[in-house]
Amino acid sequence: MKQPVSIKKPEGKLGILLPGLGAVATTTIAGAMLARKGKGDPIGSLTQMGTIRLGKRTDNRSPLIKDFLPIAQLNDVVFGGWDLFPDTAYESAVHAEVLGKEHLDLVKDELQTIKPMPAVFYPEYVKRLHGPNVKKGKDKWEMAEQVEQDIKTFLKTNGCDRGTAVWCGSTEIYQEPTAVQQSLAAFEQGLKDSDPSISNSQIYAYACLKQGVPFANGAPNMTVDFPAMWELSRERNVPISGKDFKTGQTLMKTILAPGLKARLLGLRGWFSTNILGNRDGEVLDDPENFKTKEVSKLGVLEHILQPTLNQKLYGNIYHKVRIEYYPPRGDAKEGWDNLDIFGWLGYPMQIKVDFLCRDSILAAPIVLDLALLMDLASRANFHGIQEWLSFYFKSPMTAPGLTPEHDLFIQSMKLKNTMRWMMREELITHLGNEYYD
Ligand SMILES: NC(=O)c1ccc[n+]([C@@H]2O[C@H](COP(=O)([O-])OP(=O)(O)OC[C@H]3O[C@@H](n4cnc5c(N)ncnc54)[C@H](O)[C@@H]3O)[C@@H](O)[C@H]2O)c1
Repeated sequence: MKQPVSIKKPEGKLGILLPGLGAVATTTIAGAMLARKGKGDPIGSLTQMGTIRLGKRTDNRSPLIKDFLPIAQLNDVVFGGWDLFPDTAYESAVHAEVLGKEHLDLVKDELQTIKPMPAVFYPEYVKRLHGPNVKKGKDKWEMAEQVEQDIKTFLKTNGCDRGTAVWCGSTEIYQEPTAVQQSLAAFEQGLKDSDPSISNSQIYAYACLKQGVPFANGAPNMTVDFPAMWELSRERNVPISGKDFKTGQTLMKTILAPGLKARLLGLRGWFSTNILGNRDGEVLDDPENFKTKEVSKLGVLEHILQPTLNQKLYGNIYHKVRIEYYPPRGDAKEGWDNLDIFGWLGYPMQIKVDFLCRDSILAAPIVLDLALLMDLASRANFHGIQEWLSFYFKSPMTAPGLTPEHDLFIQSMKLKNTMRWMMREELITHLGNEYYD
């Protein structure tokens, strides 16, 4: 990534394309519409409410991020998406039961205009869902071409200058990369051969990148995290990022674990369980789909605690994560954590966390920020993996061979320093020595 000499202004309209118009996507769309009408606050969104310190502490310069960076304004965004269910964004939001009628009714007319484009849906990747709004095509290559055409038509009909995509579709079954993921040429041949290791989300991602549309992946599927996509993103000069929005329990984990490590408190075990009853929970009830999520959730502790450097404290951790589908809860998930920790002379202690969270309420600001920051990255001429956006992900993508950074506080510093760097402001090290000279 080269430091930009200048960043293109966000002129014209930005199309935010969301494959998967379910709970997270519709909560994001409705929230952005409410925020631009002044009927709700986009809480949790750095691009809308965050500030950034510039220069010395004594300079008192802390502008809003949206005033500091040339990001698209909410008034200039248009939402669209794909889903295998034909429900409009309004109907889907009602079905998701995240936002109340008092909110949805204020933007009902606007939400009703968002009708999902037919989905690329090979059911073997998400076995629990069956919907009628699906594309027909002779092979995966033709499906990708149809998505590319959808993108062009959407941007043209809505008078958009450019687009950006965030995968908000269901979690797909667990897959390891195969030979078709190893190069762009192999992947393109795989599309023509309808290779079984090319999943739905990979087809959308391929089409978006071909159209120069940045792609962020909110689910744990590999989607853009393999050599063929890295190659395509370089070739087309398009940014990519992922994987899996960092919300709920993992957010708590990446807040707590760095604290324990900073104070050198040992960890013997961390048991996490969840109950949730939304469609995401239903999909994750299938063991093959849960496996994808489990892998994404389990990596976090090891990377934060670095057991190889701290054998005595973290060399023998029992880490277990469960997700139970429990319909009465809907989107109002409950996540329990039990931490068995130890301190001075090895004496044991316990921490219990019971987080009664709302998954989509935590995910919506992430979707909005990613859409806007990926568009910014594209105008700054960045391409390939956007590691500075690790802050938003459970399982951040990195260059091959690099260990991901999971600590929320390091991620936040990295994010803000990248913002400073791209705007040619001084980086902040927190050394602070200059105040005492
Ligand atoms: N809510 C959170 O806190 C959170 C956190 C991390 C990751 N995620 C991930 O975000 C995604 C969305 O979560 P959600 O709660 O909105 O789930 P959801 O089930 O409400 O929505 C997903 C939507 O994607 C659609 N879909 C599935 N396959 C598709 C395809 N091939 N093309 C188009 N649409 C497709 C489904 O029909 C559904 O409407 C899931 O993968 C979830 O694991 C959510």
